[in-house]
Amino acid sequence: MKIAVYSIKPYEKPLLDAANVEAKHELLFLAAQLSAATVDLALKCPAVSIFVGDDASAPVLRCLHAGGTRLIALRSAGFNHVDVEEAARLGITVLRVPAYSPHAVAEHAVGLMLTLNRKFHRAFNRVREQNFALDGLMGFDFNGKAAGVIGTGKIGEVVCRILTGFGCRVLAFDPVQSPECTAMGVEYVELADLYSRSDVISLHCPLTPATRHLVSAGAISAMKPGVMLINTSRGAVIDTRALIAALKKGHIGSVGLDVYEEEGDLFFKDLSAEVIQDDVFARLMTFPNVLITAHQGFFTREACTAIATTTISNATDFERGTVNDANRVGARLIAPAAAGPSDRAR
Ligand code: NAI
Repeated sequence: MKIAVYSIKPYEKPLLDAANVEAKHELLFLAAQLSAATVDLALKCPAVSIFVGDDASAPVLRCLHAGGTRLIALRSAGFNHVDVEEAARLGITVLRVPAYSPHAVAEHAVGLMLTLNRKFHRAFNRVREQNFALDGLMGFDFNGKAAGVIGTGKIGEVVCRILTGFGCRVLAFDPVQSPECTAMGVEYVELADLYSRSDVISLHCPLTPATRHLVSAGAISAMKPGVMLINTSRGAVIDTRALIAALKKGHIGSVGLDVYEEEGDLFFKDLSAEVIQDDVFARLMTFPNVLITAHQGFFTREACTAIATTTISNATDFERGTVNDANRVGARLIAPAAAGPSDRAR
């Protein structure tokens, strides 16, 4: 089957080629992101494979459908960039990679926590400049602190396990409670309770209408002064302008972000010689207590290999009419609205 593979990066090609040895799909590698301007590149391709920065909104899906596309194979777990209802209306099957390595993202989230706390990034630079002073580098013990985890699915559960190992009291909010988390001693609480009690809050829920701007100005004001906030989920779960306002007031202690609301124009590209036009992002980068990585939580050898393998097998299964329902993206995967005072559906 001919598959137009959008947003391909050099590190992905060998993994997809290796995964495709037996299946022998015809892979059309495209550096461009999928958008209304590039959709014609997939003309007559029955399958299209996309990543998180690609645009699979309704108008783009309609063009793909008119060009003969019947399968969208996501190289991601998240599917907020796809208009799932429109795909269903058009009869386009959408398959994702639901679990390629929850450890990759969970370990990255914890890496952000440890780096922000013990300031490894600042210490690295200081020592290289022969500045061996410790002023400004003091952290805290994670042992005994309260950590709040929002979303205890595959990734959130691993985060809970790691933080439990650190000796944290782990509080969690999820409309669907995980028996594994309960068994390891995680305490499920309402969001307001999680906000007011947690020293560290880590977001692991998907982006849905219910979670868009879940972390609003109201939610932030309910959090403990000095809280550490980590987001490796999706950028728009946080209202970035409200976050900046709280950082300016000093209410938030530190922030670790692997995702950003408007990351589509920035991440996965080398813009080192360009002027950043996004003033909100530029302001975010000025805070000494904000650490940003460019959506690399998934980026381990194990995870990338699993993404390539599942993407190819999803295409093969589709061709044979034996789709794995667990990988299918449908309306039933859109989670119910979260309970709590800070929700702000938009
Ligand atoms: P998952 O589907 O296993 O778990 C998501 C959990 O969030 C579920 O338990 C669900 O019940 C819960 N949830 C849904 N609505 C909620 C709400 N309103 N409040 C609290 N919890 C809610 O997904 P998984 O694999 O754990 O991934 C989580 C998210 O991580 C993905 O949706 C994606 O956005 C993000 N992600 C980020 C990556 C990165 O590289 N930074 C890579 C992979 C995923």
